[in-house]
Amino acid sequence: MPASSSSSSSARPWLVRIPDVFEGITEEILAGCNLSSSKLLGSGYHLIHVADSSILRNSDAAMFLRWNLPIEHSWPCNPQKMDGFIEKAAQTLLRKFGDRLPQTLLIGLLDPSSNNRYYKTLASNLRGRALQIFPSLPVPANDAEAQDPDKATLFCVIGKEGLFAGMQSPKESNGFHPGGTKFISQNSPDTISRAGAKIAEAIHFLKLHRSPLPPNSHWLELGASPGGMTSELLKRGHRVTAIDRAALDPRLNGEKGLHFFHSDVAAFRPTAAMKFDALLSDLNGDPLESLHQVLRLSSNLTERGLVVFTLKTAGVSSFEEAIALYHRAVDLAARADLELITRTHLTYNRQEFTLFFERME
Ligand SMILES: C[S@@+](CC[C@H](N)C(=O)[O-])C[C@H]1O[C@@H](n2cnc3c(N)ncnc32)[C@H](O)[C@@H]1O
Repeated sequence: MPASSSSSSSARPWLVRIPDVFEGITEEILAGCNLSSSKLLGSGYHLIHVADSSILRNSDAAMFLRWNLPIEHSWPCNPQKMDGFIEKAAQTLLRKFGDRLPQTLLIGLLDPSSNNRYYKTLASNLRGRALQIFPSLPVPANDAEAQDPDKATLFCVIGKEGLFAGMQSPKESNGFHPGGTKFISQNSPDTISRAGAKIAEAIHFLKLHRSPLPPNSHWLELGASPGGMTSELLKRGHRVTAIDRAALDPRLNGEKGLHFFHSDVAAFRPTAAMKFDALLSDLNGDPLESLHQVLRLSSNLTERGLVVFTLKTAGVSSFEEAIALYHRAVDLAARADLELITRTHLTYNRQEFTLFFERME
């Protein structure tokens, strides 16, 4: 019996979200956090009981969890069959949370991938009604990034299993949005590659932990082809020195602020005077060889320079191997004076994690 199971009197209900790509190892992830799922809800949400919630952030297995929320109010019902659901739910949220002055109120879906418009409309109507009756909240509900990462938000998720709500800071929950997913369109005509969404989401996610780099910051990008990430950085007014042995998409030709080295990363030898504010690596291939290149080039980072490193786990065959690889990467980075800020599995990651480091002096 797991130590933090529902049998423990001090254990509290919590919702955790496990990304779809880890569906096959859900049991190992929960066991790794010393937890058991009492119920699977929607798409990848697990209702669990936990006595010490730090395990959801600090344990090895926690890196497989996208998002979490203490459940302080649950209404397991089928909203579609419930008369006056919106009014009753909004009044209950006000009664239970109004006095605690959340910075904002955000409502997400237990099954965001569903095409059923009913729950999208329900969430939006419930949010609208709750905002009418709540005392005015400092952060507009349509601007999730304006939240203070350290102040408590009233997060709710809703679906055919009912309504689940609790208050926690975005940083503790591991995301500004309910469920931890910021939707980023990948279908615009200027989308160069799927990887663009990864860096867009990584920049968004990092605001939980530090201020964004100002425009005109200089990024060194390893493994840039075809250029989805490059184009996202340029769009934000950053300068990019990009390296790849494959070519960049011709749409990037002549882009202001872009220098492209069409070569193997190992052949790129900047002088000591060449400084970068951030280093981004999306290199494929052996992850420790990619990290080796990142560590070599990290001496060209400014003080507290940022590293965004995609740790690819293709070829890793088990949960334990993924954790061992992660520890190896963090240890090697620490020896090269890179301190881990945080790590996560982004919505737009596949079999990979995104690790964020800062250069220490
Ligand atoms: C996943 S793709 C990168 C996608 C890219 N970040 C984007 O935004 O479109 C990985 C890239 O790493 C490059 N790569 C892998 N090893 C490399 C090396 N040693 N030197 C240069 N490029 C390398 C590959 O050519 C490939 O283009």
